[in-house]
Amino acid sequence: MKRIPDNIKKEIEKLVKELNFHCYRYYVLDSPVISDEEYDRLFRHLKELEGRHNYILPDSPTQRVGAPPLDKFVKVKHKEPMLSLDNALSEDEVREFDQRVKRFIKSDEEITYTIEPKYDGLAIELTYRNGIFFRASTRGDGYEGEDVTRNIKTIKAVPLKIEEVKTPEEIDIRGEVYMDIEDFEALNREREAHRESLFANPRNAAAGSIRQLDSSITSSRKLHVACYGTGAVKGIDFKNQWELIRWLKEARFPVPLNVKRAQGIEEAISAFKEIEETRKDFPFETDGAVIKVNEFRLQQMLGVKTREPRWAIAYKFPAHQGTTIIREIGASVGRTGVITPVAFLEPVGIGGVIVSRSTLHNWDEIQRKDIRAGDTVVVERAGDVIPHVVTVVKEKRTGKEKHFPPPRRCPSCNSIVEREEGGVAYRCIGLNCPAQVQERIKHYASRAAMDIEGLGEKNVELLYSKRLISSFLDVYKLKKEDLLELPRFADKSASNLIEAIERSKQTTLVRFLYSLGILHVGEYSAKLLAMNFRRLEDLYNVKTENVMNIKQMGEKIASSTARFFSDRENLRTLDAMKSLGLKISNPDYKGKKKEKRVLDGLTFVITGTLPKPRKEVEDLIERMGGHVAGSVSKSTDYLLLGKDPGSKVKKATSLGVKTLSYEAFLLKMIQKRV
Ligand code: IVH
Repeated sequence: MKRIPDNIKKEIEKLVKELNFHCYRYYVLDSPVISDEEYDRLFRHLKELEGRHNYILPDSPTQRVGAPPLDKFVKVKHKEPMLSLDNALSEDEVREFDQRVKRFIKSDEEITYTIEPKYDGLAIELTYRNGIFFRASTRGDGYEGEDVTRNIKTIKAVPLKIEEVKTPEEIDIRGEVYMDIEDFEALNREREAHRESLFANPRNAAAGSIRQLDSSITSSRKLHVACYGTGAVKGIDFKNQWELIRWLKEARFPVPLNVKRAQGIEEAISAFKEIEETRKDFPFETDGAVIKVNEFRLQQMLGVKTREPRWAIAYKFPAHQGTTIIREIGASVGRTGVITPVAFLEPVGIGGVIVSRSTLHNWDEIQRKDIRAGDTVVVERAGDVIPHVVTVVKEKRTGKEKHFPPPRRCPSCNSIVEREEGGVAYRCIGLNCPAQVQERIKHYASRAAMDIEGLGEKNVELLYSKRLISSFLDVYKLKKEDLLELPRFADKSASNLIEAIERSKQTTLVRFLYSLGILHVGEYSAKLLAMNFRRLEDLYNVKTENVMNIKQMGEKIASSTARFFSDRENLRTLDAMKSLGLKISNPDYKGKKKEKRVLDGLTFVITGTLPKPRKEVEDLIERMGGHVAGSVSKSTDYLLLGKDPGSKVKKATSLGVKTLSYEAFLLKMIQKRV
């Protein structure tokens, strides 16, 4: 092996140190000292040097991303169990806790406590060996969790190396992974636009992001960590919690905001109240504060009950609750067609706000809590979240309460309502549903769909707000004069949009099917449909079984396709679109004639330049029953090599995927020896 020159080693070491420092300034202190561009420049330089000399330090920031997905998580035993906490719901319960502590250690002197916000996330353990980040694990059952090292590595605020302080031989640091409320909401908005299921709260979003087998997904989520404790420790001695927090801070770990120290329980209660007051300014969710006996010597003496330590308690913020009556239950249709049951309440003041509506989430929830119109219910308002029903006061039932079954028809457009397979949501499938029209048109006009330039998010919202589009069909009724009235349009841009709409009228069945936004029908399934149905009309009233007959077509897609084309209103809209000039050709149709499909079931990936246009080769493979994928994976059967093949070859070799030259491919196909 080639020796790496010392000056290069030094340069790499310096760059790693520098970049880690800037990472800390940016992600932990929120106060960068260099620009993002400068950071990127240094990062690229390091990456290039590492690649050239094959010298990568374990704490290099380049190692945070890029690990291949896992098949499953490995189990990790915690050296010290990860415990949970006892709750206190009132000042008196907190005072009782203080009494218990004093009784147990047989002392009536005032105890020193620390008070920290209780982060609502997912508990994790970070293990460092000789100062280098070694492993991260989830809490699991408290004794054994899962190895989530690669995922935690993507969180930039987690140091890859302990620097600047005395470094212990081995230390398990405990903390909470969480997501800010704003980032949680943005994530859900994005998921809604992609018709993915939503996270119920920031905690579930954080937990879901950490329990990802593919760390590139975790990396795309905005996660934070707050470190507040330790498990097993070797080679360093902390006297108390206050000192530990100070050490963690110096060692560049993110710690809880606003940690306070108090002399005696009354001071601790005041500190709790201060945290409660500032809580609304926290960007994350907290459901209380943790009061801990400060001295570790006393913690030792106090020890653990079964699952909770005697030296700490979670003092919960009072929930804002109230009791009222459900006047009526209704259903509201969201922008992506999800139908949500809503309770209209007898107005009631809760925590200084008048509440007259509350979400019932979904029909599973209604059933679980047995909520009926006319019921007396306890309603809770937590943070900024929409109020929800906690329980029904069943003793108050008169027998006149009414069940509220899921709707069969959309309350907004009267289309068919379907229950999402495997999910809890009911969804309206109406193409022309006014509640969904904006989202549907945004998708319809997007690049991969009908590609109508100028009909992006902003313009759809503008046209909708000016009532120029209130149904799906209205896109094809837009006139230049209408556009010219609007602030965002001048003569040229108005003409451009009208022309783009005109152009989109000549389309293919694949594109059109994808553009309709049928649940679960992506580009690939649209292609399968177009290959098997000659005309759009052939899909009208199609049955699930017919769609299922298509190879590689799953039941979920087949049934939502069938349901879409069983809705009469949808068919009427499609016909109306055709009468407005839409022309749909279908070059993908493979006909009924039986071709020799020698490539049936095989997946190909292409790399490099082929003697024929790539599109032609892809078509050939698909005509012969094969499938062309974009990247090499374990399920690839052959990598087809053109001239100047790329990095896919290396990937294929490492996965044991066979490679094939274009000539060999043709030959094998003729001889049917593939
Ligand atoms: S100390 C012995 N401090 O709350 C348990 N926990 O309900 C030590 N949590 O499992 C926990 N913020 O996941 C502690 N500042 C904080 C915390 C905190 C959030 C979580 C933690 C724990 C759960 C217990």
